[in-house]
Amino acid sequence: MFYSDEIIEEIKNRNDILDVVSQYVTLKRSGRNYMGLCPFHREDTPSFSVSPERQIFHCFGCGVGGNSINFISKIENLSFKETIEFLADRAGIVLPTSNNAEDTEKQNLKKKIYEINELAANFFHENLYKPTSKLAQEYVKSRKLDNKTLKMFLIGYSGTYSELHYFLKQKGYTDKEIYASNLATITDDGKYIDRFRKRLMIPIMDVRNRIIAFGGRIIEDRKDTAKYINTNDNLVYSKGRNLFALNLAKKSNDKRIIIVEGYMDAISLYQRGLDNVVASLGTALTEAQGRLLRNKEQVIISYDSDGAGQAATLRGLDILQNLGINVRVLQMEGAKDPDEYIIKFGSAGFNKLVDNAISLVEFKVKTLKKDLNLNNVDDKIKFLNQIAKVLSTVNNKMEKEVYIDKISEEYKISKEAIYSEVNKLEYANSTSKTILEMPKVKAELYIPKNEKISIDEKKENLIIKLLIMAQYKVYKELKEIIKPEDFRNEINRTIIEKLYQKYEETNADIEDFLILFDDEKVVNKLSSIMMENEENFDVDKCLQDVIKSFNKEKLLTERNNIIQKLKNSNLSSDETLKLENDLSKILVKIAQSK
Ligand code: UTP
Ligand code: MN
Repeated sequence: MFYSDEIIEEIKNRNDILDVVSQYVTLKRSGRNYMGLCPFHREDTPSFSVSPERQIFHCFGCGVGGNSINFISKIENLSFKETIEFLADRAGIVLPTSNNAEDTEKQNLKKKIYEINELAANFFHENLYKPTSKLAQEYVKSRKLDNKTLKMFLIGYSGTYSELHYFLKQKGYTDKEIYASNLATITDDGKYIDRFRKRLMIPIMDVRNRIIAFGGRIIEDRKDTAKYINTNDNLVYSKGRNLFALNLAKKSNDKRIIIVEGYMDAISLYQRGLDNVVASLGTALTEAQGRLLRNKEQVIISYDSDGAGQAATLRGLDILQNLGINVRVLQMEGAKDPDEYIIKFGSAGFNKLVDNAISLVEFKVKTLKKDLNLNNVDDKIKFLNQIAKVLSTVNNKMEKEVYIDKISEEYKISKEAIYSEVNKLEYANSTSKTILEMPKVKAELYIPKNEKISIDEKKENLIIKLLIMAQYKVYKELKEIIKPEDFRNEINRTIIEKLYQKYEETNADIEDFLILFDDEKVVNKLSSIMMENEENFDVDKCLQDVIKSFNKEKLLTERNNIIQKLKNSNLSSDETLKLENDLSKILVKIAQSK
């Protein structure tokens, strides 16, 4: 690991879970814990809880949990290392630099790229105001961008050949560093030249306001090149994991966030007073991008009104919906994109569209309707069929009724017809389940029926809880009796293996369980066990019970194995005799243990 345990401990100590979470979630005290609405899934009643004592959070609704590091990593979508850096930054802790040569080199190069990007953005920005940049100034004016906007987004203009490269070399940066930042390309004869030339330059910032990339737009009508070229993914930038203007939208008080396709759309909306807009950086919306929006109450997709934009809307909807995000679609007529719309109809006009954004179900129904003619009987039947399918995905009964009312009114279809179609579908689904035949179990002579062997998950959880509560002491008692391989649940097995290994190494209690694990599922599981109420929990008594019942289960399993073997008719009489002997010994032990 890159950072020492001491540093990580220090970072955790200086980032109190309650402080950290409070910046994202409104929390109310409830006994010893705090409760709020989970930022990781959609819910109306709080099941997200924070324990200041244990310095952990856990959501009883969706099962996520962990310490402040896990929380930030999840909500800010950062890697472990980035999270440590984020929290160190937050607490004003200076991180030591690594002693691993490769890491140090990478770290240094990253630092240089950030510096280069910052210098380049300012270089382009200043260049925009020079008398030699008349064309760009006219272009900016034609796009109705005011000076405040140019400053706010640090919009600039790139030179005609290699001015930036020259400038950066003068500042002491190497060709390799400039190339790594993707601001230069190499010509056929091996020379470095600027990658962005004669383009309007739009810096892309991360949530920490660092410049990580650029989008460069042509300012003349040119058919020989793409409208935009963008920084390719590199050491500091991954386009599928960032959203343009998220650094600004994050600060908005609006509980909704609007996602648009183009840089220009976002910039134009900001200029006209909206402060909760992001753009998706020229790719189809990714899940990682979706996760960045999860702490907002509602995400409104506002893509271009052309076919491509609408197809992208459908894909984006599914991605966001699957993340549990409450998503809506903004419906726009009379303009091709948000920029054109707000210029034409003003911010009041656009805000009205925001307020009237429609739900996923309404959007899907509307899309279905597009290819059909409802005056045609066949089409109408088809339509009914398909909307029933969409409606049957809505679990909430009241929500479903509201949609049916709306659809009935909007498409002039009787409510009864819609209900009947939906019911037919749901009936079909439910009966297909109940028809399933019960499997017939062959009666066993030797093995008692209904006897459940194997430590079940509840007991496994209990063992983990015991370890968390009384630690090394519990390990010492259990290690010879219960082995990791005895655990059936994979997550539990992973936990036990690691804890055993750690106790074996240190012969002492473990200070922090959560930090031992990378796997999100494991951390969630541990936090849920840690969050349980511990009053009136008698560790010693519980431990003895667990050991007793485990020993008994082992005996039962052994007995059953022998019985199985005995049923094998190919056994020699010697073998049979031996097995019968073993069996009787075990049966005596079982009788004694009762
Ligand atoms: P648009 O063509 O809608 O761009 O593409 P825009 O930002 O609205 O710009 P204007 O209003 O036409 O000037 C949407 C987004 O797709 C990416 C960019 O991120 C752009 O903002 N894109 C588009 C590219 O990366 N390359 C392209 O050639 C075109
Ligand atoms: Mn556009």
